[in-house]
Formats: sequence, structure tokens, C-alpha cells
Amino acid sequence: MKLELERLSKQFKNKIAVEDVSTVLTEGIYGFLGANGAGKTTLIQMICGIVEPTAGEVKLDGKNTISMGEDFRDLLGYLPQEFGYTPGFTAKDFMLYISSIKGLEPRFARKRTEELLRLVNLEDEANHKVRTFSGGMKRRLGIAQALLNDPRILILDEPTAGLDPKERVYFRNLISGMSRDRIIIISTHIVSDIEYISDRILVMKKGRFILDGPAEELVREVDGGGWECAVPRKEWPEFEQEQCIVNAHNRDHVVEARVVSRKMPREGARMVEPTLEDLYLEYFGDEL
Ligand SMILES: Nc1ncnc2c1ncn2[C@@H]1O[C@H](COP(=O)(O)OP(=O)(O)OP(=O)(O)O)[C@@H](O)[C@H]1O
Ligand SMILES: [Mg+2]
Repeated sequence: MKLELERLSKQFKNKIAVEDVSTVLTEGIYGFLGANGAGKTTLIQMICGIVEPTAGEVKLDGKNTISMGEDFRDLLGYLPQEFGYTPGFTAKDFMLYISSIKGLEPRFARKRTEELLRLVNLEDEANHKVRTFSGGMKRRLGIAQALLNDPRILILDEPTAGLDPKERVYFRNLISGMSRDRIIIISTHIVSDIEYISDRILVMKKGRFILDGPAEELVREVDGGGWECAVPRKEWPEFEQEQCIVNAHNRDHVVEARVVSRKMPREGARMVEPTLEDLYLEYFGDEL
């Protein structure tokens, strides 16, 4: 399978949300990483065929996906960033409802619903109304509905929004345990959600991919190194202004900081291995 994004652009009135994005995706897990407004959702909606590109096209094995119509949609599983649940439905009813929209055979749909609710840990809540669900439970239900048709292309827009740390770990294991004969796209602004499970990470900024590669490779792009140092409280305001701070902890009289810098940020700083989080902050620190 080869999913090609060819020079995709989307302009809303005077706002360019996605600008001339091209890449080729084959079976594997891809993380679209970017800050708010980077263009992730718009790009995903163009891939799914919900938003029409201003320019460019999406192709699957050489065929334009819009002209493929139903044939493309049958291969697709999608979790939108904003998902409209029907609050009066139970989790099970909701799954069966989506199954019918997707045209799944009712007996198959019931079996699949049971399997998937178990997979996302909602089997005990199958007959509870969605209205009573927490944000994290709704998100898990959203992931389950995206899997109903056993999609070859699975696209999850911010699947971990609202999940607690335990649920995030569960989600990562769920995705990395899935069979590898699909294209999985996960968008997020949280580095740790995708750092260890993605085969490739595509970092988006202002509508473009600015970095693209496996996490290990991207980490080598960190300009300079990671540092740890302890800064006396009264020197902190100035230090904070000057440095790219990744992390800071208040201790008694000092602030312990993790910094990305080309040169030693201050006397006594210890050099540490850079991480993808460091790289991300180097690129987005100014926007956060
Ligand atoms: N329908 C629209 N009309 C006008 N502008 C839009 C529309 N949809 C998105 N935009 C703009 O396009 C840019 C990209 O938005 P998009 O939602 O794709 O970003 P994102 O990376 O998904 O952000 P987030 O992390 O907040 O979900 C933003 O500046 C946004 O304001
Ligand atoms: Mg978005």
C-alpha cells in the first residue's frame, strides 16, 4: 500500500492552513506532531476526503482517493478531533449505529462491537449511556468505532486528548500491538504519545512538515545538547529569559533545570543525552 500526499495545500480565505505538503506513507505508524494551529487536522481532513484541497491530491497506489469514492472509504478508519457522540446511546448502541453507517453486516457488527469494546476496556460499560462517560472513556469509544471495519488506513486525530497517564500507556500499547499491515496516522502535540511507537515522526509547523524521520534520527537534529543545572532562585528570572528551558523543578534554594543549548548554559551544568522533547521545544518553545 502506498498513500501519497502530493503537494497538498489548503487555504481558508486569507489563512493558509496547509502549504505544499508532500510525502509517501507505506504500512507503518506515523506521528504527526505539531503545536496548536500547525495544520494537523486540516491535513488529516484532506487525507480522509472531508476537506477539499485548494491544490494537490491524495493517491492510494496511484489512484486519486476522491475518485476511488466508496472503495477508499471502506479502507479508512477515522477518529475526528471533535467527535459528536449521541449522548443518549449506550456504548454498544453507538458502535452498532456507526457499523450500520459503515454498511457492516449486523451479525458481524455485533461480534466486532463486543471485541472492540473489550479491546478498549469498555466491556463493563457496554450498556451504559455515553452521557455518563468521562472524557477518556469517550475517547476510547472513539478509537473503538474507528476500528469497526478493520481499516487498512487508520487515522486518529488527537486520540489521547483527555486520557489520563495510565490510559495513555494503554493506548500506546494498543496501537503498537496492532497488526503491521496498515497505515496508522496519529496526530498529537504530546511527544511521548508517539515517540516510541512511531516508525516515522513528521513534525508540522505553520502548515508544513519541517522534520521527518524516525525518532532516533530526529533527536540528532537537536542543535546543541541537553544540559542539567541548578540555578539559584534569584538568578532564575534572568536565566529563564536567556535559555531554552525544557523542564524546571523548584528545590529549596535553587531551581533544577533541563536546558537545550549549544554551549554550556552555566558553570557546573552537566551534559545529558538530548531527547525528542528537547527538539520539539527548540522548534516550538517560542509558541508555547
Ligand atoms: N474552517 C476553517 N476556517 C478558517 N480557518 C481555519 C479553518 N480550519 C482551520 N483553520 C486555521 O488553519 C490553521 C490550522 O488549523 P488546524 O486545525 O489544521 O491545526 P491543528 O494542528 O490541528 O491544531 P490543534 O492542535 O489545535 O488541533 C489554524 O490557523 C486554523 O485557525
Ligand atoms: Mg487539530
